[in-house]
Amino acid sequence: MAELSESPAQTEAVGERLAASLEPGDVVLVSGELGAGKTTLVRGACRALGVTDPVTSPTFTIGQRYAGRVPVAHLDLYRLEGMEGEDPGLLEDYLDAETIGFVEWPQAADPGIERVRARVEIRHAGGDRREIEVRR
Ligand SMILES: Nc1ncnc2c1ncn2[C@@H]1O[C@H](COP(=O)(O)OP(=O)(O)OP(=O)(O)O)[C@@H](O)[C@H]1O
Ligand SMILES: [Mg+2]
Repeated sequence: MAELSESPAQTEAVGERLAASLEPGDVVLVSGELGAGKTTLVRGACRALGVTDPVTSPTFTIGQRYAGRVPVAHLDLYRLEGMEGEDPGLLEDYLDAETIGFVEWPQAADPGIERVRARVEIRHAGGDRREIEVRR
């Protein structure tokens, strides 16, 4: 079921609510076009998990780790064309049984990501509107 967000704050709030249902080891895949609001949603989720560091797009690496009430990892696989030829340990540096993980642009690695707890799809719906679908 898709819901409508009309502002970045509302998208963050969707992330916050989603975070409440997550346990260590869970991974959330976050899809959507450029600028859809993937990082914005992850930011809200990270806040709810107790992360106080600024949550921005990882730029020079595929991911970033944050210390919240539980360890949190945020990956952006935009530049990965596919996992072939990549070090299979690449994701394991970030995703493990203690960590709650969020993966933007997951198609390069999915299937192949374990313990996917939810899939989020964000679609532009005109101006500041976004349609957000969370599938568990
Ligand atoms: N309803 C909304 N929800 C989320 N972001 C919104 C909304 N309305 C406007 N925005 C703006 O859209 C942009 C979303 O940026 P964000 O970095 O979250 O997107 P992204 O999907 O992670 O992009 P990228 O593909 O580059 O990683 C921000 O500038 C934000 O302020
Ligand atoms: Mg992003």
